[in-house]
Amino acid sequence: MNRIPIQRDVTRLKVVHRQRVLRHGESDPAPDFELASLDPSLWAPARTGWQRLVETEYESVVISGWMTAGLARLGAPLDIIGAFGRIVEDEIRHVDICAQMVERFGEVPTIPRAAVPPFPVGVADQNAEEVEFELLAGLVGFFCVFEHLSAHVFREALGCSQHALAKWAVGEIHRDEAFHGAFGFETAKIFVPKWSDRTRRRLGERVVADIQRFEQRLGGPLSEADATAPPGPLEEALAGLGLLSPPHLLAVFYEAVKSELLPRLDDLGVPVDLSVKIER
Ligand SMILES: [Fe+2]
Ligand SMILES: [Fe+2]
Repeated sequence: MNRIPIQRDVTRLKVVHRQRVLRHGESDPAPDFELASLDPSLWAPARTGWQRLVETEYESVVISGWMTAGLARLGAPLDIIGAFGRIVEDEIRHVDICAQMVERFGEVPTIPRAAVPPFPVGVADQNAEEVEFELLAGLVGFFCVFEHLSAHVFREALGCSQHALAKWAVGEIHRDEAFHGAFGFETAKIFVPKWSDRTRRRLGERVVADIQRFEQRLGGPLSEADATAPPGPLEEALAGLGLLSPPHLLAVFYEAVKSELLPRLDDLGVPVDLSVKIER
């Protein structure tokens, strides 16, 4: 596939970027790491795992930038626009951290050329209500579902990280991700409760599709046998490097959907019927 290397620190603005990556001096420095200290059989899968995270974090940059602009167009309160601007900064930082990890494992971090964001919002020829619905459906899908559930996945990955470098990278990402889903819910609370029952039902159908999309992104749905198979030595070693296997990711995901996501969507007045849609 046609790919573009992640470019950073190429202009004088690198000073501003580095300040952001280092959280204005408050981030922990990356620990020393010798690739040779790690079993060579782990190099390629670790590289692939962190490269995949470069791509999903980059996607978050695009979507949160787009969402910031969309919320500004809707005339959202400045505190909300500012919070989403903050998410853009966080996601740029996450791409940089994941890119550092790919480099540590001996590869050039890249993104696909002209990647299309998965949540199109703000189509020009729609009426104002439809623009608001599309934007908020994208917001709920990306922030209340994807970002909120990813925070749970990162927390689990942090708990499993054994290697100092993985603990550092996953920890630096998780500390921000923990807030992004909450920013989504706080924003949705302003708009969604004012909608008609019919529009909220329509949103609920979108959310079901988003939950399924997230399940697929994590490698699901799995057969019962694959979901319950004990992890092999490679899976365990990769978990120590912050990279969890699909059965592990999906177990965290199903639990978080049930105990965290659905009650919050219920509070928001969004009916979500997962009875036939989700595998487990
Ligand atoms: Fe992120
Ligand atoms: Fe995020």
